[in-house]
Amino acid sequence: MQPTNNGSPPDAQDLVLPLASPASPSITESDFQNCQCLPGTREVALPGPASKHYLERQQERESNARSYPRRIRMAISEAKGIYVKDADGNLYFDCLAGAGTLALGHNHPIVLDAMRAVLDANLPLHTLDLTTPVKDAFVEELFASLPSEFAQKARIQFCGPSGADAVEAAIKLVKTATERRSVLSFHGGYHGMTHGALSLTGNLSPKQEVAGLMPDVHFLPYPYEYRCPFGLGGEAGHRISSRYIESILDDPESGIITPAGMILEIVQGEGGVIPAPDEWVRQIRHLTRDRHIPLIVDEIQTGLGRTGKLYAFEHSGITPDVVLLSKAIGGSLPLSVVLYDQALDKWSPGAHAGTFRGNQLAMAAGIATLRYILENRLAERAAAMGDRLMSYLCQIQAESRCMGEVRGRGLMIGVEIVNSEAQADRCGSYPAHPLLASRIQTECLRRGLIIEIGGRFGSVVRFLPPLIVTVEQIDSISEIFQKSVKAAEKQVLPILSEVG
Ligand SMILES: Cc1ncc(COP(=O)(O)O)c(C=O)c1O
Repeated sequence: MQPTNNGSPPDAQDLVLPLASPASPSITESDFQNCQCLPGTREVALPGPASKHYLERQQERESNARSYPRRIRMAISEAKGIYVKDADGNLYFDCLAGAGTLALGHNHPIVLDAMRAVLDANLPLHTLDLTTPVKDAFVEELFASLPSEFAQKARIQFCGPSGADAVEAAIKLVKTATERRSVLSFHGGYHGMTHGALSLTGNLSPKQEVAGLMPDVHFLPYPYEYRCPFGLGGEAGHRISSRYIESILDDPESGIITPAGMILEIVQGEGGVIPAPDEWVRQIRHLTRDRHIPLIVDEIQTGLGRTGKLYAFEHSGITPDVVLLSKAIGGSLPLSVVLYDQALDKWSPGAHAGTFRGNQLAMAAGIATLRYILENRLAERAAAMGDRLMSYLCQIQAESRCMGEVRGRGLMIGVEIVNSEAQADRCGSYPAHPLLASRIQTECLRRGLIIEIGGRFGSVVRFLPPLIVTVEQIDSISEIFQKSVKAAEKQVLPILSEVG
C-alpha cells in the first residue's frame, strides 16, 4: 500500500528516524528463523492444535473473569520486538503490546541487559519502599523527563504494581489534601478494576454486578466527536462540554458538592481511543485551577511517548496537579507511581502502603526504557508512524462500508466500526457494529495481526503497536488490516457484497 497525502503523512525516508545503535540491534523476522508462518503470508484457522491444548487447560483452571483469551485464541510461546509467536509456530505483529505497556516491544536487548545487570550485581529484588541506588536513579530519570514546571514541585509515591493502585492512591491523596469527598470522572473513562478505580470508570458492564462501589463519583461529558453527547460534534461539541462542566462547578443546585479532584485521560484508551482536543483540555485545566480542584491526569496508557509527546498532557501545554504512570514506565515489568504537586502532600506516613512497591527489576528496566525513548526520539517516531498508519487507515476507510471514524494520536489509534446500512444520527454517525468489529479482529489474527477491541459496545478496533515499529511493519500491518476488513465485511454483510 502507498500512504495518501491525506493528513500529510511524511514519506518513507523521512520516517526512518535513528533507531539502530550498537546497543539496539534492529529486530527483524530473522529472529524467528524457524518460523514458517510470517504475518501477512497466511490465513490460518485459529486456534492451532497446540494453542487449543493450552486454551483448554486454561479454561479448566482459570477464572471465568479471564478476558483476552476469549478473543485472542492463542497460547504465546515466544516474543521479540513487535513479534509474538504462538505455540503452533505462527508469527504475529503484536499491536496490542501488553495493552500499551511494551513501548520497546518484547524483550528489547537494552531492557534485558538492564535486568541482567541488577541480577548479576546481587542487588536486592524486593525492598518495600526503602530506597536503593536503582530507585534513586529511577526517580532522577523520571523527574528529568517531566516538564520543569511540574517536576520542580513534584513528589512521587510508589504504588502497588498496577495502574489501578496508582488511581486508588491518587484519590486518597486528593481527598486527604482537600478534605472533600466527591470525585469527577468522564463518560468513557477507564481507570482500572479495583473498587475505587472501577467506580471512576465509565464502562457499565464490569460495574453492573458489583454492589457498593465508591460513592460520590460524578461523570461528565467527554468531547467524543463521533458520538457527541450533545448531538453537535466538532468544536461546538467540545465547547458545550466545557461550558456544561463550568456550570456544574458553579451551580449551587447542581447536586454535586465541590469535588476533591477530577480524573482525566487526555486520550481515552479503553473507552475507544478518543483524543480530547487541546483547547478543551486547556479549558478544563483553567476551570479546575480557578476552583482549586486538583486535576489528576491518568497517563497510565498514554505515558512515555505513545501519543507523540512523552506525556500526553504536553500536547496542550497544561500542568496537571497529579500524574499517574504505570504500563511503559516498568519497561514491561509491573510498576506504578503517582507524581503530584507537593502542595497536596498532606497525607500521613503509611497513608498508602503496599508490599510490592519496590520492584528493582522494573525500575532498572524503566530507566533503560525511558533513556532509550528519549535518546532515540521515540515520541517523535510514534507521531510519524501514527500519521503513516492513520493515512493508510483513511485510505482503507474510503473503500470500506464499516469504518465510521479513524482517530487517534501517535501510536494510539482506533477505528470505529459501524453499521452504515442503519439510520445515521443527527451528526451523521452510524450505530456501532460490534459483530463486525469482532470479525475484523478474528480475520486480522488469522493473517498474523493482533489488535484489540474496545470502546462503546466493543466496536472500536484499536492499534497500540510498540514505539519501535518500523515503516515496513506499518505497511504490512495496514495491508493485513485492509484484507481483514474486506473478508469480515464479506461474511457479515453478504447480501450487500453481492450487490456491490
Ligand atoms: C488509562 C488507564 N488507567 C488505569 C488503568 C489500569 O491499569 P492496570 O490494569 O494496570 O490496573 C488502565 C489500564 O488499561 C488504563 O488504560
